[in-house]
Amino acid sequence: MLPKKQKNLFRYIAFEGIDGCGKTTQAQFFVNYLKREGFCVYFTKEPGGVNNKIRNLLLEEKWPSKTELFLFLADRALNIVNVKREIEKDCIVVGDRSIYSTMAYQGYGGGLDLEFLEKLNLFSTEGLRPDVVFYFDIDLKTMKNRVKKHDAIESKGDSFFMRVRKGYVELLKKEKNFFLINGEKSKEEVFRSVLKIWKSLLGD
Ligand SMILES: Nc1ncnc2c1ncn2[C@@H]1O[C@H](COP(=O)(O)OP(=O)(O)OP(=O)(O)O)[C@@H](O)[C@H]1O
Ligand SMILES: [Mg+2]
Repeated sequence: MLPKKQKNLFRYIAFEGIDGCGKTTQAQFFVNYLKREGFCVYFTKEPGGVNNKIRNLLLEEKWPSKTELFLFLADRALNIVNVKREIEKDCIVVGDRSIYSTMAYQGYGGGLDLEFLEKLNLFSTEGLRPDVVFYFDIDLKTMKNRVKKHDAIESKGDSFFMRVRKGYVELLKKEKNFFLINGEKSKEEVFRSVLKIWKSLLGD
């Protein structure tokens, strides 16, 4: 049987939140769910959706903030080529992070100009943004309990991550496509919340 094609408006779904909030776990649950439902699904992650070359540069070493920003954008510009190709095929794209991570981390966290970042983000994606964003909210204590190894981004310190989390909450207020999920609950409970929102969006 050929995979079902996604004909509604929700073709690009992103998973967002601070480190350890459950993005990868929930994105995988969601990919498996969509596949079971018979959809054509394309999973991607940022950084590193296409290959790990830029991702490794970013995570192995600390860079000046603008270098870091342009590495993320370079990776995104590469990734978006595949994202667009899959959307054209009517597949559902599931993204582990997206443009909003740049707003939260480099913008709210790192203090770079938000309006300028928005322009750079849309330049790197040729205007494409996720249709739906699941934002998993956890506090810093939970983040530290869950994230044991520390790459260059994860070792930025508490005050940085407090700003990033606050940034996500600002984005939640501003962006109509953002949905808040309490990431402190069990993996299964969190996924039930994801599905509840997804089904309500589809009108099921
Ligand atoms: N709801 C949950 N309750 C308890 N543990 C969880 C929950 N969700 C994820 N975890 C565990 O926390 C760790 C981090 O989860 P995961 O990798 O999904 O987060 P992430 O948001 O992708 O993190 P990162 O930003 O570092 O990639 C994993 O060990 C995972 O098994
Ligand atoms: Mg992850």
